[in-house]
Amino acid sequence: MNTIQWYPGHMTAAMRRMQEDIKLIDLMIELVDARIPVSGRNPDLDRLGQNKAGIIILNKSDLADPAKSRRWVEYFEKSGKKAVLMDARSRDGMKDVKGAVLEACQAKIDRDRKRGIKNRPVRAMVVGIPNVGKSTFINSYAGRSCAKTGDKPGVTKGKQWIKLDKNLELLDTPGVLWPKFEDRTVGLHLAMIGSINDEILEKEELAVEILREMKKLYSARISDRYGIEESGDDYSILQEISLKRGCLLKGGEADTKKGAGLVIDDFRKGRLGVYTLETAPDEGIF
Ligand code: G4P
Repeated sequence: MNTIQWYPGHMTAAMRRMQEDIKLIDLMIELVDARIPVSGRNPDLDRLGQNKAGIIILNKSDLADPAKSRRWVEYFEKSGKKAVLMDARSRDGMKDVKGAVLEACQAKIDRDRKRGIKNRPVRAMVVGIPNVGKSTFINSYAGRSCAKTGDKPGVTKGKQWIKLDKNLELLDTPGVLWPKFEDRTVGLHLAMIGSINDEILEKEELAVEILREMKKLYSARISDRYGIEESGDDYSILQEISLKRGCLLKGGEADTKKGAGLVIDDFRKGRLGVYTLETAPDEGIF
């Protein structure tokens, strides 16, 4: 895998803006992909949000392994962070999210009340790495389409706040942070779920890694889906899948590039079943 060249440039700009935005908010709502709760977090965020109330939303939980998700929720909570499972597309989990937001805001509302400040809504920002579902989440929360998608520097002039209810206002532009990694596994997991540029890894290499990981974590998924034996080396498995699925080159050999595309797509869309690539440690400080 190549060293990531694009990280520093994007990051400094995003970071600078985030540092400014964070001053304006009381609550940080961090979205993390439930399939990769370690690799899908930007480690700088903890430092940025140090003095803010924060909750973690494990989004895309519809694609994640429910047993592992429950363990992650427990783990984050033990580490002092409220965590909630969410499917931003179907709004599944929204009730819990709203409860958690209210709970996180309560301390601030009480503080305000003591100081004689009444009805000042809590200001929050949704943050997370690209594609984790920030815009979908904001629209789901508001019950209407309001989030600006993507990271378009220079488009937004001045800060816009979306009033979600009497208690909460949300910065309409989600905070985009790029994943950060030096560790090969972190980069690999991000590539597998499709959250970093596909060009970082050759398609076939990525598919082989996916096959290897699935065999290790969820045996029989590959054999069930493609009707093949799971034993043998992973590249041969990719060849076999390609042949079975009619991905053929002119001479009738396996078109492993095409086969790789198929495996990657099946994996990302959940057609190999739900999965979580990272397991919560039993103990530990986050
Ligand atoms: P971002 O603002 O963080 O960059 O992410 P965005 O909301 O644009 O969502 C990225 C993709 O993830 C979208 O799919 C979106 O539908 C999908 N998504 C968001 N939340 C969830 C979730 O909880 N579960 C699942 N399964 N998917 C989710 P897309 O393929 O880019 O678009 P489309 O398929 O919705 O048209």
